[in-house]
Amino acid sequence: MAAAGFFFSITALVILIQLATNLNSCSAATPVHHSGRSTQFIRTSCRTTLHPNLCFATFAPYATRIRGSPRSLATTALSLTLNTTRFTTKSLISLSKRHRLKRREAAALRDCVEEVGDSVDELKDSITKVRLPTGGGSEFRRQMSDIQTWVSAALTNEDTCMGGLSGKSVNRDLKIRVRRRVVKVAHLTSIALAFVNRWAAAAATHK
Ligand SMILES: *[C@@H]1O[C@H](CO)[C@@H](O)[C@H](O)[C@H]1NC(C)=O
Repeated sequence: MAAAGFFFSITALVILIQLATNLNSCSAATPVHHSGRSTQFIRTSCRTTLHPNLCFATFAPYATRIRGSPRSLATTALSLTLNTTRFTTKSLISLSKRHRLKRREAAALRDCVEEVGDSVDELKDSITKVRLPTGGGSEFRRQMSDIQTWVSAALTNEDTCMGGLSGKSVNRDLKIRVRRRVVKVAHLTSIALAFVNRWAAAAATHK
């Protein structure tokens, strides 16, 4: 199933994303303004992520706003991921109230709420950083590196949440419901990380 991929090493995932990003950094830096080309930019950017279909469906509506800018693509992805992650935390909390949970289930869900909540904080920090005016090369690189660290940490938290649910003592239906929500957030986070990496690479090449 779709979740299976997330039980593999996060490190491998990040390396894959970085490889894909480096391959495409040059084409990414060319701004395009026509709306058809803006949509094409989203399509080609999404092809470098692990979830091209989800990516395109999610970001195509923002194409004219993003206008072929790697920076705008990254900030839009962070903002949208933050919004979805916030919503997911709320929905996990309401899920934990609706079900009659066993102790183990309640504990696993509580851990998930906490971990996904931490992701919200990390994404918020990333967005704050992104909005700061960037200075020259080395300051920009430091900011990018912080953002990459935080977004990777968010991804790890989401992975940990799903790992915690995989025990046999968690009701299958509950597992599926939680996983459906958290997998979506994890996929969006991984796309946001790919776009941040892409932006960092494009900026490094063209400065
Ligand atoms: C995320 O939510 C904020 C506040 O509700 C909103 O201003 C912003 O446009 C949303 N981001 C995206 C990408 O939709």
